[in-house]
Amino acid sequence: MALKVELCTDADMLRAFEIISLAFGQQHAYVNAVWPEHETAAGCAAGAERLLGAKQTQPWTHLCKVVDTNTDEFIGFAKWDIYDGVLPEVPTGMPPQYYKDDDAKEYAEYIWNEFTRRRWDAVKASGGKIASLDIMSVDPAHHRRGAGTLLMQYGVEIADKLGYPAVVEASRMGWHLYNKFDFNILEDVLIANPPKQQGQQEQFIYWMRRPEKAALPQ
Ligand SMILES: CC(C)(COP(=O)(O)OP(=O)(O)OC[C@H]1O[C@@H](n2cnc3c(N)ncnc32)[C@H](O)[C@@H]1OP(=O)(O)O)[C@@H](O)C(=O)NCCC(=O)NCCS
Repeated sequence: MALKVELCTDADMLRAFEIISLAFGQQHAYVNAVWPEHETAAGCAAGAERLLGAKQTQPWTHLCKVVDTNTDEFIGFAKWDIYDGVLPEVPTGMPPQYYKDDDAKEYAEYIWNEFTRRRWDAVKASGGKIASLDIMSVDPAHHRRGAGTLLMQYGVEIADKLGYPAVVEASRMGWHLYNKFDFNILEDVLIANPPKQQGQQEQFIYWMRRPEKAALPQ
């Protein structure tokens, strides 16, 4: 039953994205729009390629995995962005090759902006001294075994060491876990669909923040 948390290698990206897809299923408009057809082999490979791109180009990104040491199975994945003094350039558009047409790309950009804009404001206001939990996902076959807790501990321990606050756009499933780590809900957000997507599934988030602790001496 022993679980351990460690950083992902490049070879882990396909399983990492598969876990994202399995964990979110079809319940999240944001996931469905940003990573089209993520449940298919091609969609999963595209998602893995994008994770690898983030790993290789964003030095603040920590891609973490939880492994069951009895079976060597990779069961949980989180992407923590710990800026540590960096003000990142906020992407202005989605890479077109991942979208079937302009409408799909435009909707992904809309929902991504609405989903992440509080985060970018918080990063800016902190002077780039903040931890942002970008993705948290555990394979549904392994829920409630403590993998999510280990992935949380990884990020909050670094934030606490640095004396930084942490933020997350939480799902209805995730907020219980974040609450256990002293994240508070600042806002309930229902992202209204634009006219072309009227009537489709909408995305809900709790915007949550964990206050900074006093930095430990270096
Ligand atoms: C949220 C998620 C990552 C939790 O992962 P997990 O490995 O099951 O979490 P843990 O086993 O460490 O749970 C720790 C505690 O969090 C709380 N918790 C976790 N899942 C919960 C749920 N579905 N309902 C209520 N509380 C929950 C409980 O207090 C739990 O402790 P307990 O099992 O002793 O009661 C997982 O359910 C998941 O991947 N969900 C789908 C994707 C998602 O919504 N991700 C969050 C995006 S913001």
